[in-house]
Amino acid sequence: MLDTGVGGLTVYDALRRVLPEAPVIFAADFVGMPYGKKTEAEVAARVAGLLGRMSERYRPRLACIACNTASTIALGMVRDVLEIPVVGTVPAVKPAALHTQTGTFGMIGTQATIRQRYVDDLERDFASDKTLLRIAAPDLVDEAEAKLRGKPVNLGVVEEAVTRLRGMEGGNAIDAVVLACTHFPLLREELGALFGSDVALIDGAEGIARRIVHLLNGQEFERSGPNRFVVTGPVERAQGLENTLSERGFGAPETF
Ligand code: DGL
Repeated sequence: MLDTGVGGLTVYDALRRVLPEAPVIFAADFVGMPYGKKTEAEVAARVAGLLGRMSERYRPRLACIACNTASTIALGMVRDVLEIPVVGTVPAVKPAALHTQTGTFGMIGTQATIRQRYVDDLERDFASDKTLLRIAAPDLVDEAEAKLRGKPVNLGVVEEAVTRLRGMEGGNAIDAVVLACTHFPLLREELGALFGSDVALIDGAEGIARRIVHLLNGQEFERSGPNRFVVTGPVERAQGLENTLSERGFGAPETF
């Protein structure tokens, strides 16, 4: 699995619930973080390069891009070059469109994600009779990273994003919000408190986990140790994550 940081752990958690026995190597591209502020070409090059290196080194049976930004930009390209199944994490527009009663729902992602044609296509295919309001809230990525390191979340940052989405034309009618960045479900509690209980916060993690199970098609796994958490750049960037990683069945962080 690949993300820029701990966001992808939201997909990892869902996968472990349905496939606890499968050994996982999770790569956090701390050097490349944040993808959301990069150009399409930069993200595509990094993701294709990293997944190529990972698949040569670790020979996985399947790769999961546990990042919406990387998936909406580079999924097609990565599928063309890797010889294993590649599962992406794309914004959960379809379930949110099915959920909304008011016909208006929101999406919070990174700048790069919300401008992708991939998202326009999802909107056209699954929500053409609905109103989808999109905002970029890249600073929430840092808050999620802080939270998993046991640091306090700056609630002002969360509040600013919620107020901005609510303040868009029609924003008061929102009754569902797509968390279109894998970091954001880590702030579900904080976002939920501000949106209120009438707004469903929807992410794709469980659907992705089910898709992985389906593609692995009943294969058996043999575990030879804890899961691995590998990082680009200095391993010190993982400092503070020790508890969250060990609770999730990972060994000590390693350099990739
Ligand atoms: N977790 C990534 C995503 O799902 C984004 C974080 C970043 O900008 O690097 O989009």
